[in-house]
Amino acid sequence: MIQRSATWALAALVSLCAGAAVAAPPSAAMLSNACAGCHGTNGGSAGPSMPSLAGQSKEAIVDAMKKFKSGERPSTIMGRLAKGYTDADFATMGDYFSRQKLHPTRQALDPALVARGAALQEANCSRCHLEDGKEGKDDTPAMASQWLPYLQMQMSMYLSGQRKMPEKMEEKVKPLSRADLEALLHFYASVK
Ligand code: HEC
Ligand code: HEC
Repeated sequence: MIQRSATWALAALVSLCAGAAVAAPPSAAMLSNACAGCHGTNGGSAGPSMPSLAGQSKEAIVDAMKKFKSGERPSTIMGRLAKGYTDADFATMGDYFSRQKLHPTRQALDPALVARGAALQEANCSRCHLEDGKEGKDDTPAMASQWLPYLQMQMSMYLSGQRKMPEKMEEKVKPLSRADLEALLHFYASVK
């Protein structure tokens, strides 16, 4: 008797779990926990090769995830990871991270380069990288307080053609010297 009711309870539990897996879509926090190991529990990345997601718009995050999934944007990790999720999951994650506050990083930067970048950004980048990079127009990612090594890696992928630059960004980037671009990245990394 005891054994039979235990079996019944187990069967009920199994069907309950299976039912829950089908019925309820994963919550934002559940999905986003899978990202926290690299991007930080509060969306502030703990490692210089990984970008912070806090402060990014939902559009920017969804756009990046779709490009990782399709392979349009080159990646070390995200391409493989993005394949496991649907567009609806991307929207849920984007929504979750976009609500987190920008996370200032502590990094050693060259003050002379920061100043030079500050003087260059208005005329060259501010049309899309708004508010000193704290915000982005449409699907433009936030760059304020982003890790310098991450920004340098992405810029070198743009310059080599591995990552496709938006046309209007390319018009601004192409005429600048490598030293000017380096200064701009120092500036954005410095913004708190
Ligand atoms: C194992 C570490 C790791 C995990 C886990 C991870 N990421 Fe990433 N993420 C990276 C790295 C590294 C990059 C830079 C691109 C690359 O090389 O893959 C990145 C880039 C991104 C970007 C682009 C940001 C920008 O500024 O352009 C987004 C968006 C992103 N990840 C979202 C997520 C989401 C959402 C999850 C959870 C499903 C996640 N990541 C899980 C390491 C990780
Ligand atoms: C016309 C709008 C526009 C202009 C002008 C522009 N950008 Fe961008 N930028 C974007 C968009 C959109 C993206 C994301 C594109 C993608 O999917 O790769 C981006 C991405 C970036 C990234 C990668 C950030 C990340 O989190 O991965 C860097 C670095 C960058 N821009 C630097 C610059 C610099 C420096 C300038 C000025 C010289 C500039 N951009 C001007 C629109 C622009």
